[in-house]
Amino acid sequence: PVVRVNVAQPVADIQPTMWGVFFEDINFGADGGIYAEMVKNRSFEFFKPLMGWKVDGKKRTEGDVLIQNRQTPSANAGTQPEKSTNNPRYVRITTSNASQGDLSMTNEGFKGMGIKPGLRYDFSVLYRVQSGNLKLHVDLLNAKDDVVGSGVLIPEQSDKGWHKQQVSFKSTAGEQKGKLRIWFEGTGVLDVDMISLFPEDTWKGRPGGMRADMIQMLADMKPGFVRFPGGCIVEGHDLDQRYQWKKTLGPVEDRQLIINRWNFEFAHRPAPDYFQSFGLGFLEYFQLCEDIGAEPLPILNCGMACQFNTAELVPMDQLDPYVQDAIDLIEFANADVSTKWGKVRADLGHPKPFNLKFLGVGNENWGPQYVERLAVFQKALKDKYPTLRLVCSSGTDPNGERFDFLNGKLREMKADLIDEHYYRRPEWFLQNARRYDTYPRNGSKVFAGEWAAQSDKTVSVDNKNNWQCALSEAAFMTGLERNAAVVNMASYAPLFAHADGWQWTPDLIWVDNLRVYGTPNYYVQKLYSLNKGTNVLSLTQGPVWKDNEPLAGQDSLYASAAWDKATNEVILKIANVSDKAQARTFQFDGVKKVAANGTLTLLKNEALDAVNSFENATKVSPVEQRIPVDVKKKALSMTVAPRSFSVIR
Ligand code: AHR
Repeated sequence: PVVRVNVAQPVADIQPTMWGVFFEDINFGADGGIYAEMVKNRSFEFFKPLMGWKVDGKKRTEGDVLIQNRQTPSANAGTQPEKSTNNPRYVRITTSNASQGDLSMTNEGFKGMGIKPGLRYDFSVLYRVQSGNLKLHVDLLNAKDDVVGSGVLIPEQSDKGWHKQQVSFKSTAGEQKGKLRIWFEGTGVLDVDMISLFPEDTWKGRPGGMRADMIQMLADMKPGFVRFPGGCIVEGHDLDQRYQWKKTLGPVEDRQLIINRWNFEFAHRPAPDYFQSFGLGFLEYFQLCEDIGAEPLPILNCGMACQFNTAELVPMDQLDPYVQDAIDLIEFANADVSTKWGKVRADLGHPKPFNLKFLGVGNENWGPQYVERLAVFQKALKDKYPTLRLVCSSGTDPNGERFDFLNGKLREMKADLIDEHYYRRPEWFLQNARRYDTYPRNGSKVFAGEWAAQSDKTVSVDNKNNWQCALSEAAFMTGLERNAAVVNMASYAPLFAHADGWQWTPDLIWVDNLRVYGTPNYYVQKLYSLNKGTNVLSLTQGPVWKDNEPLAGQDSLYASAAWDKATNEVILKIANVSDKAQARTFQFDGVKKVAANGTLTLLKNEALDAVNSFENATKVSPVEQRIPVDVKKKALSMTVAPRSFSVIR
């Protein structure tokens, strides 16, 4: 059969933001993930103050290591309480003539500590000398407790104030599940807090920065946007635990830690040691977007906590602070340094505005309660910033009554972008390849903000990132691309998962302490993003292209076509979900000349259950080859491989 591609008349623009990524601190995505801090519970603010720490040693006696609280008067032995702080707890160490083996504190890391051989590690601590002379010996340990790197920190200031000091040293060997031991030498009383360890090789070498290998995976995708910081963590288990961006700025020791929403029993595999340190805050997210050339898309709480949990609501007459947070965020991101929040940004080292164009209000919120809260945000934000594009939530059920109600309301409200989420079986994705063909072309646009094919069932812990799921997503995405007039943004979710600490599967990218691999789904996303094009072309099967019948499931083939005006190329994307090869001729209409060769990037596997892994990270990954084109007929005849996704330029 012949498939006609009409090159003469592009049918719609493809937004530069079309394919992006959705980041959330789930599955140890931020703390223990892209945030390269290696010490768990560095500030002793977890619910159990010594969680992650083990105190040990021959001379250990009661009272040697005591948790103190700056907000408790008695903590300072007769002195006045210190001013209220976001990081009230610290540890008081008391020793007498201590030497190696007498008293130590060992941190287990998030899921162990990944240590690379010969790399510099930066250890730092906030300390206050109460009396005497105590030295800190810092040892990196391997799984057998052998020392694989060490440094000594001798406090330089003894004036009873808090001071930060750092010591750097190189590791002598690598380890997947290392630890950090600090042992104390001498006699004295020393207060310590913010015990921190970072590797030298962070993203762009920034001290206290992000894990470079994970960020590189994102940079390689050239995403059009980064949605952050979630997800459910935006909403919080209750409103107290919602994400508040203003609390994520400034010195890390002043950022108040909260429990992570994925610590709760509602998580599929809850992690009791999961907290948000906010070492990675809004400035860092904006900077990440800038680094990788993606539009920032922050999502803010709309005055509603997670409706799957407490469904706590802020009363309408108390919504103002929430709206003000949104207004201030826009000022923080875009205004010049003469404004209050523009100045905050500049003082944090980024005088240049971030040029924020999108803002989300609410994540997976629904019902009339959402509509009435959203209306207040919409009025306030649009009055002040008419060109800002607001992303509005449409809940989690792409086919149900709740969705229809909300979608209707949001369209009446002329929402800029409606955020649709779908975690469904692979069949759903194939059946929905034409989902947007019938959506109205005018009015609200769609942000397909969270979705992933589930090999077992929605939110099952048995879901796999297998080739069947990835291929069904590739097929579905031809429908998103074909409908770029309606769908302006799309992102798979969740993005990252730590193999030893996940709460949700499937996920786009899997990591352990030292390694990272992209799933077959990752390669599908990457291929779409790197081959986005600028305009949709009509691609139809049949004798007459005016049939207007897209190739969306006939003979198990799904295809779309785009034009890239920057390179003058036609880009075809073809998913063959059957186990049979399919011969097709792609006829390019309305073009004067075609090149004799194109490139075919092929992602395929005969086995639907094929997965990538740390050991076989590129089992399902793209392979590029040249493909001949008939210049006389202006046509490309090819056999589309079984169970494959092809991108042809
Ligand atoms: O992506 C995982 C979760 O799925 C998100 O936090 C939430 O928005 C959705 O329910």
